[in-house]
Amino acid sequence: MSKSTSQNYKEKSKQMFNEASKVIPGGVTANIKYFSPHPIFMKRGKGSKLIDVDNREYIDYSLCYGALITGHGHPKISEVVTNQLASFGTAIFGTPHELEINMAEKLIELYPSVEQVRYTNSGLEATLFAIRLATAHTGKQKIAKFEGHYHGGYNEVLISVNPNKTEAGNKDTPKSVSESKGISKEELENTIILPFNDIQATEKLLRTYARELAAVILEPVQGGFIPADQTFIQQLRKLTEELNILLIFDEVKTGFRVALGGAQSVYQVKPDLTALGKVLGGGFPIGAVGGKKEIMMLSATSAEDDVFSIGTQNKRKEDTVFHSGTYNGHPIILAAGLEAIRLLEHNKTMEELFHHTMLLRTKLEKLYKAYDIQMKTIGLGSIFNIVLTDRQIRTYRDMWNTDIATRQAIDTELLNQGIYIKPLNRYSLSTVHTIDDIEKTVVAHEIAIRKVMNTQARNYSFAN
Ligand SMILES: Cc1ncc(COP(=O)(O)O)c(C=O)c1O
Repeated sequence: MSKSTSQNYKEKSKQMFNEASKVIPGGVTANIKYFSPHPIFMKRGKGSKLIDVDNREYIDYSLCYGALITGHGHPKISEVVTNQLASFGTAIFGTPHELEINMAEKLIELYPSVEQVRYTNSGLEATLFAIRLATAHTGKQKIAKFEGHYHGGYNEVLISVNPNKTEAGNKDTPKSVSESKGISKEELENTIILPFNDIQATEKLLRTYARELAAVILEPVQGGFIPADQTFIQQLRKLTEELNILLIFDEVKTGFRVALGGAQSVYQVKPDLTALGKVLGGGFPIGAVGGKKEIMMLSATSAEDDVFSIGTQNKRKEDTVFHSGTYNGHPIILAAGLEAIRLLEHNKTMEELFHHTMLLRTKLEKLYKAYDIQMKTIGLGSIFNIVLTDRQIRTYRDMWNTDIATRQAIDTELLNQGIYIKPLNRYSLSTVHTIDDIEKTVVAHEIAIRKVMNTQARNYSFAN
């Protein structure tokens, strides 16, 4: 593609970004949506494809950061949403309703550790509520999280998600590094950072802080693509039990994506609490916390008085873990989510999805090898990532030694070639990605590799 064409075809996106930037800080409503020189504005989705405002079509591997496991606008999900809206006669009741029970029963059936469920509106709220339950249950205040793991954008966990080499500290005792302005020193001190996939160093830290630690929270598959070692996760379970620390699996990414029953069913390890989100809503905003009944029941109310009852002196308030939300358990979203799960449960759907994912991974590995580029794909189930290295990747820090500049240049060119992935992000597949999509993706990679090899990788941009 000539220089002028590649600039022109993103003209409308560029214009919209300029407009957006006047009324929306940075032009995006979530910082993750930004990339240089400007994000691409989409106007339509269909199956495995996205269409941008300049009428360019992309095979989408972002799928709203993994949420759309049945692709864009699955007819069955659209049908359920339309029908339920009509039959309910409203978007939301604002009262308990039957689908809340149906989804809770489904999650209890699929997730080995889940005995009871509460709903939230996002993955962020789910991990936040799980942590509150843990501090209430144990009476302890600090939490521990792993370096490189993301659990949502609030102060307690917005720490050491992506620290750089100069600030991250020793590998056995990583520092708590703030990821945002506005996080206090006290919050940094209250979150202990652990090294992933290193049980000896993790054990040392857990034993040191055991009396203060309410919970260890982790992504069982870091960033959705670096799996925990089986022995690591088993020993972590044993240790946390011994030390009276709750274990929280954040399965917002892995839920329904690495298996219907999430990473816990793959590892056969039962956490005390599980946070879910993304796929659970069939493309609509949702989160859920599930776990042991004795812990979940801390949020059960048996009184009419709560934090909103002005002037009441009810003691129950102090005995109950607060949990509320105007849209919690949204009926239309639960209907969409239940339909998404039903589709995934159908016959060999998951097997086929994993097969397609592995096929793409294998073909890409072969391609990069043919161009003498050190590359491997890593991941589990329907998620993977491309890393440009010949070394093993087991931790966040291992990613520092990969060739990020070349990967970024290739990803940027892939956008020009009709493959949508936010540069440097992971790949998620859907049940509607076809063999043809996979073949086209491999061809696009080959073109991208050739272009990047002919260009100074570090200076690569849209305009090339
Ligand atoms: C593992 C994990 N936890 C929590 C979250 C936050 O979820 P949400 O963006 O729905 O608030 C995310 C989002 O990407 C996530 O990947």
